[in-house]
Amino acid sequence: MTDPIYVTDALIAEDIDAYLAQHQQKSLLRFITCGSVDDGKSTLIGRLLYDSKMIFEDQLTALEADSKRVGTQGGEIDFALLVDGLAAEREQGITIDVAYRFFTTEKRKFIVADTPGHEQYTRNMVTGASTADLAVILIDARKGVLTQTRRHSFLAHLIGIKHIVLAVNKMDLVGYDKAVFERIVLSYRAFATEIGITHFTPIPISGFKGDNITALSDNTPWFKGPALIEHLENVEVAVSDDEAKPFRLPVQWVNRPNLDFRGFSGQIASGIVKPGDAVRILPSGKTTTVSRIVTQDGDLDEAVAGQSITLTLADEVDCSRGDVIAIADTPPEAADQFEATLVWMADEAMIAGRAYWLKLATQSVSATIQPPKYEINVNTLDHLAAKTLELNGIGVVELSTDKPIVFEAYGDNRTLGGFILIDKLTNATVAAGMLHFSLRRAQNVHWQATDISRDMRANLKNQRPALLWFTGLSGSGKSTIANLVEKRLHRMNLHSFLLDGDNVRHGLNRDLGFTEADRIENIRRVGEVAKLMTDAGLIVITAFISPFRVERDMVRAMLPESEFIEVFIDTPLAEAEKRDVKGLYKKARAGQLKNFTGIDSPYEAPESPEIRIDTTVMTPDQAADLIIDRLLG
Ligand code: ADX
Repeated sequence: MTDPIYVTDALIAEDIDAYLAQHQQKSLLRFITCGSVDDGKSTLIGRLLYDSKMIFEDQLTALEADSKRVGTQGGEIDFALLVDGLAAEREQGITIDVAYRFFTTEKRKFIVADTPGHEQYTRNMVTGASTADLAVILIDARKGVLTQTRRHSFLAHLIGIKHIVLAVNKMDLVGYDKAVFERIVLSYRAFATEIGITHFTPIPISGFKGDNITALSDNTPWFKGPALIEHLENVEVAVSDDEAKPFRLPVQWVNRPNLDFRGFSGQIASGIVKPGDAVRILPSGKTTTVSRIVTQDGDLDEAVAGQSITLTLADEVDCSRGDVIAIADTPPEAADQFEATLVWMADEAMIAGRAYWLKLATQSVSATIQPPKYEINVNTLDHLAAKTLELNGIGVVELSTDKPIVFEAYGDNRTLGGFILIDKLTNATVAAGMLHFSLRRAQNVHWQATDISRDMRANLKNQRPALLWFTGLSGSGKSTIANLVEKRLHRMNLHSFLLDGDNVRHGLNRDLGFTEADRIENIRRVGEVAKLMTDAGLIVITAFISPFRVERDMVRAMLPESEFIEVFIDTPLAEAEKRDVKGLYKKARAGQLKNFTGIDSPYEAPESPEIRIDTTVMTPDQAADLIIDRLLG
């Protein structure tokens, strides 16, 4: 007996090369199914795989083994078994973000992203939807439009999926009633219009019975089509839309095998490019012309959205990874402040003010987020006030980056408008985002050049500016040692300024407490003030617990490299607690003081501070001498 799964196409046996060639030319449709098991999602996916009679990769071996075990007859995989297998696999794999399944018909190849439908899996759905061209929104004909239908549609639309199929499933259970179908379509249309979905394709189906899946069903003579697979095969996908947009190539790497060749490689995000086109490099704005489009198989006359290419340019212009090569007359914008929608995907809530890595196309920058303008209730679409975003939370925020990035609104260009945020310590992806627009203030507030430079100010005082950034537990001795250091500097006629945690918290930062977010804001402000003071030519000493590495590094990045000197006042917790000069550890242990560093709030010790002071072996005076030596030595 021939293996059932392989006899899908006579051409395979006859002429494998011809088969593969035909197969390669087929276009690819990526889609996502939205719905829950109750809506019949596993059954539908099973049906698509089953009816297309083509199952790939990992499913193949597992299902093959299963069908043999139960002794399936006649060379067919058992449909029920297939569906059970898919459901079980997904239950086990619930921690996997998204299950991608592959199948193909004669006309097209498909990748379907299968994600769980419940609200706690919003992030999985967003992941699956991010690469999809089409979404199949599943509805149980007996139940009609539900809260989850609205949630799924909102998310699909948010992610920018242009093609929506409304699959009204389980039509067999409502007697293939036309009126039921029409009622559902009507109520869905009302909702869809409200959120900006202007077009969708409704199809009455039964995943279980197979009605209107591959072909129109006799059970629904009133439905004129198309059948689901027919629609999936024929729908025009985004590529043609992308081609019509202006040319953009985010540069992935610069190819320089020898001095005569300099090529810029990447995948075209949108548009078409030809040799001779006038292009502009962003963000610098330099213009030049395209010389050649180079590929492994020779030069091209033209390349389009989606293709990976290498361009050579007519002039020796500066262009490196992260830059965008764009058509000269309609270039994208570069900015450093934005409004965006964020989908929070991490167990740890968003922290306003903290710096995250932001990756957009091939660009990577540091970004900080403001507290949300509002959070969106994904079920009701209401706007709610929020201070942060928790796992699966969706909100609109303002964010700023440390360098300008080249971007377009997500609605216009998914590649140049979509980004992810990455935690700097754990390297985990914590959010997906969609840029709306740059904030005008970013364009209208310009840096004012002044004639007296920071060097001139420092020279007047005969000193070099520096920032001695003390960090350590409460009671570790920061203030004591910092005070001694300042006294020594003063004696040497060096102009200094000491910013001390307890003091600054009486004035500039009196609105801040000791939550993670408040501590981060505390350090951000102190960092900015300290920077201004070094610009004034001063030697600045700060004495703050500053418990988080990311924020200390953020301040470090604000200053010229040699000017930031991290001084770790290394006093073990037991020792600081034993000294307990202010009696705060006692209070914290008694539960009268919450979020106390070292007790119920973390302290992240520096990994490689410029100076480390072990206060268990050194007196404060010795410590101060050592710091002065290092500073001036
Ligand atoms: S930081 O964490 O934001 O850098 P900062 O140095 O400004 O802290 O303030 C720490 C000082 O505030 C401590 O030395 C202590 O006197 C006081 N304090 C009051 N409550 C707390 C708390 N929950 N945790 C740490 N310090 C606290």
